[in-house]
Amino acid sequence: MKSVLVAGGAGFVGSHLVDRLLRRADIARLVVVDNLWSGLVDNLSHIRDPRFHFEPSDVEAVQSPHLFDEIYHLASPASPPWYMQQPERTISANLIGAMRLRELLKDGGRFCYTSSSEVYGDPIVSPQPESYRGQVDCTGPRSSYDESKRCTEAFLFESQRVRNLDVRVVRPFNIYGPRTRADDGRAVSNFAMQALTGRPITIYGDGLQSRSWGYIDDIIEGFERFFWRDTFDYRGPLNIGNDREISVIDVARHVCKLVPGSRIIHVDPAPQDPTNRCPDLTLARQLLPGWSCHIPYEQGVKMTIDWFANQMRRERRAVSNG
Ligand SMILES: NC(=O)c1ccc[n+]([C@@H]2O[C@H](COP(=O)([O-])OP(=O)(O)OC[C@H]3O[C@@H](n4cnc5c(N)ncnc54)[C@H](O)[C@@H]3O)[C@@H](O)[C@H]2O)c1
Repeated sequence: MKSVLVAGGAGFVGSHLVDRLLRRADIARLVVVDNLWSGLVDNLSHIRDPRFHFEPSDVEAVQSPHLFDEIYHLASPASPPWYMQQPERTISANLIGAMRLRELLKDGGRFCYTSSSEVYGDPIVSPQPESYRGQVDCTGPRSSYDESKRCTEAFLFESQRVRNLDVRVVRPFNIYGPRTRADDGRAVSNFAMQALTGRPITIYGDGLQSRSWGYIDDIIEGFERFFWRDTFDYRGPLNIGNDREISVIDVARHVCKLVPGSRIIHVDPAPQDPTNRCPDLTLARQLLPGWSCHIPYEQGVKMTIDWFANQMRRERRAVSNG
């Protein structure tokens, strides 16, 4: 029976991963370490599983009397407004967090890390294969995130080379869905909240910048297969995402259709906002045959809006019940 640690498990993606891990019968103990910087206790409050434990702590300083068979390191904000506000903290969570967590892994254990498509920066190659080395500005306003992802990958792949560490690194592209914070600041959640609260939908720049949005359930399925379910010899990073590229303005227009009365306004472009982002999924298709993002954004955006609307109703009820 295995013991598992998930750092960042109170966050949007981490909490869905925890749900998936708890379906496994071979896990005896699952510890979530999270300092609730960008995560929410509410994301885990539905769990009634005696194997589950929550440890409120910075990942860099986490203490544990036990070592773990599997460690999942997701502790880092993913939203630009959040990480750009606290760059030192972002670098520390990723890199120092990985260094601390490696000390808590049993010999022969597996270390899984969520890097990011941001390692490709503002790409001049599209779609981006894992072999593309990217175009990141190490002095730019997004560098705390992009470069800490790159450096943490370097730390982990060097640990694999020098110490034979069993490493699994995913490079997820944009993910969206239920349990994103209402004040997360990224496109889909922003648009949903703006539309539901009667505010104009704000688009940075002309909105023609494209993204490849993956609905959370599809992404978690990819994580499950790469991190623990499928067997293969490959030991490098893997793109996980949706390769259907959609412009930001198209998503905003779709939200307008779903929430009648919404309107779009344009504001100044975000600093160093990548113009395009699209995964080359050749490798994912070879390693995880049959896996892909099945849920089209039209459906995923609707499910996300419905979830936000439901959360708002819950909060209103809680306020009116005192
Ligand atoms: N959401 C995406 O689109 C996306 C895309 C690519 C990669 N990722 C990566 O996936 C991971 C999870 O992203 P998310 O969208 O769930 O973000 P999130 O902000 O919702 O979750 C991150 C979690 O980590 C916690 N955390 C941050 N710093 C910490 C620290 N020092 N110690 C302990 N806990 C800490 C936060 O409180 C939060 O619960 C991140 O590593 C992110 O870089 C996300």
